[in-house]
Amino acid sequence: MKFVDKVALVTGGSRGIGLATAKMLSENGATVIITGKDSKRLEKVSSEISNCIGIAGDIRNTNDVKNIVKKTIEKFGRLDILVNNAGIFPQIKQLHEIEEEEWNEVLDVNLTGQFRFTKEAIPHLQKTSGSIINISSDAGLKAYQGFNADAYSASKAALIILTKCWALEYAKDKIRVNCICPGVVDTDMTKPFLKTQNDKEFMDNEHPLGRIGQPEEVAKAIIYFASDDASWTTGAVLAVDGGQSTK
Ligand SMILES: NC(=O)c1ccc[n+]([C@@H]2O[C@H](COP(=O)([O-])OP(=O)(O)OC[C@H]3O[C@@H](n4cnc5c(N)ncnc54)[C@H](OP(=O)(O)O)[C@@H]3O)[C@@H](O)[C@H]2O)c1
Repeated sequence: MKFVDKVALVTGGSRGIGLATAKMLSENGATVIITGKDSKRLEKVSSEISNCIGIAGDIRNTNDVKNIVKKTIEKFGRLDILVNNAGIFPQIKQLHEIEEEEWNEVLDVNLTGQFRFTKEAIPHLQKTSGSIINISSDAGLKAYQGFNADAYSASKAALIILTKCWALEYAKDKIRVNCICPGVVDTDMTKPFLKTQNDKEFMDNEHPLGRIGQPEEVAKAIIYFASDDASWTTGAVLAVDGGQSTK
């Protein structure tokens, strides 16, 4: 039980990687708050996890973010772990085809959203010498021929450098900030790319280990960074991607 008496906030914890992480944190003794826009889903999912509550809110809305952190502190009195996980993946288009509105939305969720949560969480994490885990992507590490979503890549690359900035800035408070870059993981986000057997085989073969990942395989890395096992690790960027970023 790595997280007894710890309180963890997982943004986008209602599905996919966030949900797998919330379950694993709970199994290891943490009290877990999960977020997302869909309050019904949050209610259902959180009721199936021990010591877990859902608080709905849109990461694009500063007041929603403030409210989530405020309620967390009111209810549990502390915050030890922030998993900046909520994210969206836009349609794949070339740069000249992207409307400014689409560009802004991706950045608003995937980048400014992480800024909003981190800003609100820092004063509480300073009290607990807590830990932040940013969920970036292989798309923040490399470009893919014919398969880029530029706003997504930009948001994820920015999260990598912000991990290092925040790690350096808050080391004085003993807050650790680390980053994970998953390859393609089997979640709702990637369903549009895995419709046919051919799609699946293509995606599997893109990864040197011969398959896409499962949410739990990313969650295990998040758990590592969140725990005292990583007590001397901050500013680190870990690819959890079946080797994809090595190509
Ligand atoms: N799956 C992959 O292959 C992959 C690869 C690399 C990186 N990642 C990253 O890993 C993270 C999780 O991905 P996933 O595949 O688990 O995604 P997912 O299954 O699509 O889940 C996304 C989560 O984010 C929440 N969310 C989305 N927009 C939101 C908003 N505006 N406000 C609040 N919450 C919002 C969703 O809740 P609601 O629907 O209720 O809003 C949901 O809980 C993302 O940051 C993603 O970019 C994923």
